Amino acid sequence: MKDNFYITTPIYYPSAKPHMGHAYSSIVADFFARLKRIQGHKVFFLTGTDEHGQKIQRAAEKSNKDPLEFCDEISKTFRNLSSLLNLSNDDFIRTTEKRHASAVTNLWNILEKKKEIYLSKYSGWYSVSDEAFYNEDEIEDLEGKKISKLSGSPVEWVEEESYFFKLSKWQEPLLKFYSENPKFILPESRKNEVISFVKSGLKDLSVSRKSFSWGIKVPSNEDHVIYVWLDALTNYLSALNYPKETERLYKDFWPAKIHIIGKDILRFHAVYWPAFLLAAGIKPPQRVYGHGWILSGDEKMSKSKGNILDPIEIIDLYGLDALRYYLLKEVSFGNDGNISKEKLESCINSDLANNYGNLCQRVILFCEKNLGLKVPEYNFTNEDLKILNDFKENRENIEKQINDQNINYYVEYVVNQLFKANKYFNDQAPWTKKDDSLRLNTIVFVSLELIRKISILLYPIIPNTSLKVLNIFSIKEKDIKFDTISNNEYLKDKKEIIKLGILFEKIKK
Ligand code: MSP
Repeated sequence: MKDNFYITTPIYYPSAKPHMGHAYSSIVADFFARLKRIQGHKVFFLTGTDEHGQKIQRAAEKSNKDPLEFCDEISKTFRNLSSLLNLSNDDFIRTTEKRHASAVTNLWNILEKKKEIYLSKYSGWYSVSDEAFYNEDEIEDLEGKKISKLSGSPVEWVEEESYFFKLSKWQEPLLKFYSENPKFILPESRKNEVISFVKSGLKDLSVSRKSFSWGIKVPSNEDHVIYVWLDALTNYLSALNYPKETERLYKDFWPAKIHIIGKDILRFHAVYWPAFLLAAGIKPPQRVYGHGWILSGDEKMSKSKGNILDPIEIIDLYGLDALRYYLLKEVSFGNDGNISKEKLESCINSDLANNYGNLCQRVILFCEKNLGLKVPEYNFTNEDLKILNDFKENRENIEKQINDQNINYYVEYVVNQLFKANKYFNDQAPWTKKDDSLRLNTIVFVSLELIRKISILLYPIIPNTSLKVLNIFSIKEKDIKFDTISNNEYLKDKKEIIKLGILFEKIKK
């Protein structure tokens, strides 16, 4: 039995419309969810919106709306983005839902009962845009304004009664947890950052706010709302119907296999979240992967620089699969990466149109003209077996790499197979074998098998296009099995293939 796989994206703030960074976190998570499904795992893939807190309250005030009405509207844009990105999520959670509030309240009550929470007073810096408390040494002056050194966001001075979580108590247990679970935080470089942050000393964490009301109330004291990050992180549990821990969903999927997040929210996920859970006696997730930023050219996307690439506009212009392919291939996963229209266009032309598109087009057209789209008979030579067996020989390694989230290894493998397949078809030149029909047939058969295998590997990256191609072999989405890349004669029993249109139009520059 394969183990179950629970994967999450961050839940997005509906304070503004979705941008490329959101699309990136989601596409990456969808890649893993789809891959795990075709590997035969039972998958639960969660995304959603993070709707409480001062940031949202202020954004709602600014647009003269009641916060819930405001969230209803923008949450919808994120839900729409999920379909636009072709996410295969099993649920979409909103933190304004009842099921979520009951999970948060329950977790709070446990922490309070276990005396992990106490009432005191907070005085210090707070960034509404990050929804984060910062220490004095994390603040600097910029043109007379105080900002966070970590995020560059403005901070304001806050003094109010507040509940505190005894984070300091969890410093040593956390360090022990990291050393016992060396792959809890990936990539490695980020893990080191977190460990040195924890080693430098953890202070108790303020976990409630009193000066505004948009949030889940502290059950024992309604003057306070629960800190939005304690609220938000709990979404990963509430979507599994926590606190119903004996029910199927929770039993099947908790602890989560992996939270996909951006590097800017690593501290919340890799320090606070496991500390809350350990304190409540709940198992922490197995992994937190902090990916890098998507930059526009070499700069961070920002409204003031006017260099924001809107994912919806890019999809309109170039198509979804082009964007998915670009982000998964061209960004070195874990590091910052950049996107521009020029780069995207070159990638579409060289990889998608010239490599994958070209292979499918040529082979299928040849099969149509010479064999009337019949799947031919075959008699493999050693050379044929060599290229076909490559997939079987590398399968285990690909799986191993992917279990460490080495997306780039995976994509590189697929791209290499594409080059090899194109080269095979060229070198074998079936058009010169018209007087040796068994050889001509075999070359076509091998090429079709290569297209099938590669399309299966491409499915988590570009699901729509790969399905179009797999469809010519009458392979439906539910029939896609990763293991079949090892089979060299999968198409043996298929009689005919279906004609295929152009997959990617080349972009004229
Ligand atoms: N609501 C919190 C997350 C709570 S999870 C329990 C949040 N929301 S966010 O909308 O601000 O950001 C969501 C994700 O988008 C984060 O993982 C963040 O890193 C990612 N990105 C935002 N801008 C980005 C880029 N330019 N590039 C890549 N990802 C970045 O934080």
